[in-house]
Formats: sequence, C-alpha cells, structure tokens
Amino acid sequence: MASLTIRKLDENVKTYLRLRSAKNRRSVEEEVRVILRELIEGREEPLTPLAAPPDVAPASASQRTGALPEASVTLIIGGGIAAYKSLDLIRRLKERRIEVRCVLTKAAQQFVTPLAVSALSHERVYTDLFDPQSEFDAGHIRLARDCDLIVVAPATADLMAKMAHGHADDLASAILLATNRKILLAPAMNPLMWNNASTRRNVAQLQRDGVALIGPNAGEMAEAGEAGVGRMSEAVEIAAAAERLLRPPVPRPLAGKRVLITAGPTHEPIDPVRYIANRSSGKQGFAIAVAAQAAGAEVILVSGPVDLDDPDGVTVKHVESARQMLEHVQSSLPVDIAIFAAAVADWRVANEGEQKLKKTSAGMPPLQLVENPDILATISKLTDKRPPLVIGFAAETEHLIDNAKSKLARKGCDWIVANDVSPATGVMGGDRNTVHLISRKNGENDGEIAVDSWPVMTKEQVATELIAHVVKSVADKSLEPAS
Ligand code: C5P
Repeated sequence: MASLTIRKLDENVKTYLRLRSAKNRRSVEEEVRVILRELIEGREEPLTPLAAPPDVAPASASQRTGALPEASVTLIIGGGIAAYKSLDLIRRLKERRIEVRCVLTKAAQQFVTPLAVSALSHERVYTDLFDPQSEFDAGHIRLARDCDLIVVAPATADLMAKMAHGHADDLASAILLATNRKILLAPAMNPLMWNNASTRRNVAQLQRDGVALIGPNAGEMAEAGEAGVGRMSEAVEIAAAAERLLRPPVPRPLAGKRVLITAGPTHEPIDPVRYIANRSSGKQGFAIAVAAQAAGAEVILVSGPVDLDDPDGVTVKHVESARQMLEHVQSSLPVDIAIFAAAVADWRVANEGEQKLKKTSAGMPPLQLVENPDILATISKLTDKRPPLVIGFAAETEHLIDNAKSKLARKGCDWIVANDVSPATGVMGGDRNTVHLISRKNGENDGEIAVDSWPVMTKEQVATELIAHVVKSVADKSLEPAS
C-alpha cells in the first residue's frame, strides 16, 4: 500500500490541513484520514478556505514561495521550569523551516499548556501513551520515526534516567525508546542534581549511546540564591544545535580560493560564417567548475562555444577564439589555482576573410595558418601573478604518458591531466574519461615525475577526484612555513 508524506504535499494543501487539524484538535495525519473517510461516505466538509484562527502566524516566506520545509522535529517537553523556553524554541525551529510536533510529559503540563504549544506549533499536541485517537495505529511509533530528529527540552534528570535505563512507561520515554532517529537533549536541572553521581552516570551512558547534548549552561537557578551549571541552553542555541544535526555544514575546503578554469573548444574564424573547430564538448571543464564551486571556491570559467548550461554560482565568460580566451584568462588574474581544460585550437587563419569567401574559377582559396598563443604556457611562465598551482590537460591519441611528461616540462605547469582521446575511447564528447595525473614530485622543476593512473570514471568523478587532489595540495602548501 502506498504511503503519503505530508511534508511533500503542496504548501497550500498543507496550510489547509494544518488549520483544519488545529481547529479539530487532531493530528494532520488523522485529519487526512477523516477527510478520506468523509469523502468515501459522501459527507465531506466543503473544501472552502478556513479563516485563520487569530493565533495562527501569517505564512512564512517559505510558505509564500511554496518552498518545502526541509526537516521535521519531534519536540519532547519535559517537566521543568525551563519548559517556558521551549515555547520560544518552537518558533526558532519553525523560523529555520523545521516542522515541529510536540509531546508534553505529565509534569511539563504543570508549566506549559497543550493549548499554547498547539497554537505555536500549529499541530496537535501529544500527551498520552494510551490516547485512543492516535494509538489506533501506534502513535508513539509514528512520533518516534516520522521525523528527522527528536529534541528533548528541557531534558530533566528523571527523563534522562529513564532513557539511560530503557524505561517506556509514558509517551515521552516510549518515543525515546522506539526511535531510530538522532536525539538531542537540552538538560535543565538544579546544579546539585546535574552533579549528582547518578546523573553523571546516566549522561555518560547516553553519550556512549550516541545521544547529542546541548548545555546545560552556568547561571542563576529559578531557586532563589542558587547558581551553577544546570540552566537550559537558550532557545536559539538549541535550534542552532538541532539545525547542525539536521543539516550538517557542507565542508568548503576551497573557501577563499579563486579558481580559473578554461573549457570547451575554440572557434577560429575563416570568414564571417566559417570557422575551424574541434570536437571538445566542454563537459570535463564544466564538471571541474562545478566540483570547485561545491568545494567553496570562487570559480571563473572561461568557455569556448559549448552546448551546456552555465553552472550555478560560477562566473562564466563566453568566448569564441583562442585570443579572446587568453584575454579573459589574463584579466581574471590573480587566481590561486588555474586549470586549463579547454581544447584550444593550435592554429588560426592568418588571412581571415572580411566577407564570405566565394567559390571562383581560380580554385580553392589558400588558407594561411598562424600559431595561436599557448594560454597554458603563457600563464605558467608568468613571473608576476603566476597562479601557485597551474594544471594543464593533455589530450593524446598515442604515447600518452611520454607526451604528457614532455608537455609538463615544455609548458611549465605543475600538473598535467593526461587523457587518451583516440576515437575508440569515445572521450571526446562522451561522458567518461580515463586519466593519468602527472605531477612533479615535491613540486621540483627538475625532480622526479609522478604518474597516478585513475580507473575509468565519469567526467564528474574525474572532476571530483581532481579537486580532491587540489584540496590536498592547498592544505599541504598552507602547512609550509611562509618564506
Ligand atoms: O599543446 P596541447 O594542446 O596538447 O596542450 C594541451 C594543454 O594546453 C591543455 O591544458 C590546453 O588547455 C592548453 N592549451 C592552451 N593554449 C593552446 C593550446 C593548448 O592553453 N593554444
């Protein structure tokens, strides 16, 4: 039987469901079941928009734009004076596009009311293990699993003791025992309770079990004149900790680095309508740009004519000829890393026709070729503004490694990515590539040359691997003492 994920429904359908379930004091899932039952029995409520109750906040930016919430949390509110901060925590989580479903322990209801929690979360609040409304399909199991994270705030000494010993005699402890999701605890208690040997044992056990903790902080207690470690973390701190668990920060090892990449073929004009070109698709260079950008670099991509979309977050400069490509490369300096993946035409037509060349009785017009500037060699040999790491490509159809080694010396770059482009390989225009990374050992000009042969990969995998090598080289260099 297919299952339905509420989170993936349209934003306006979800808003309707939330309002209707809040009005009827049912969970959203239960409301969906009721709607379906009513439809089948032919007595459905008219699907007219409901007026928002006064305590319902206006639609958030993500709701207005229709963006889907990205995560959901089951928030267990334990019984402690800090429970009042959990009302703010609900808001802070929702601000971060995290849906919140709340469970209140019996003791928590002495400090905050289910009504207040429901109004803030826009969801039904759960309090009973044996609630006939939610238990008919094991509600505690759904609360334990139909979320991305469980947050316990405040986590009382009693709740932590129950967790450490596997008790399940109320809804909160049953959820915590039944879950296979990550748990974040925000402990709050008197400093003597926090420092008590049994609490210390329980905390140590929970940490061994993989439970995450935020706080407690040091400060004044609710009890007059008492101070020490035991104050629950502030709502913003707990929400930030929850967000870190839900959306771990993506590593950005090239943050702050500028990477210049050339890609694609060049078109060398013969006359206004004809040109000399090659079969390069630009796929490899574009994939490298995407990988470098994902690693946090600022990427400038100088591309010849290709049939590819500009990658998001990358500055793309479109050029036609080798000379234009050189101009844009030079104007993009200084950069930290330059990767020359373009298949630049070695020659251009010296006598480019200003008008379309005509067929005449004199026979074929002679095409004089002159050499194009070698962009890789020009940049590698700069004395001023030479990028600290310059990488060239060698597309060869024979003697791949030997030709690539001599190219490394001739061009003066640091690494060469050598690939076999003989027609049988299908590399030109294809999606896969077999490459060898050729580099000077220890970065020395006259030192030994290392050859690292990679297995057949997609061009995206080659790009990821190349950027991983770049990251390592940048990290190694940054460890060297500045001269
Ligand atoms: O000399 P060859 O074309 O085999 O060298 C390939 C490498 O040199 C590639 O990295 C290519 O981008 C670069 N190149 C260049 N300018 C040229 C010719 C090649 O930057 N005119």
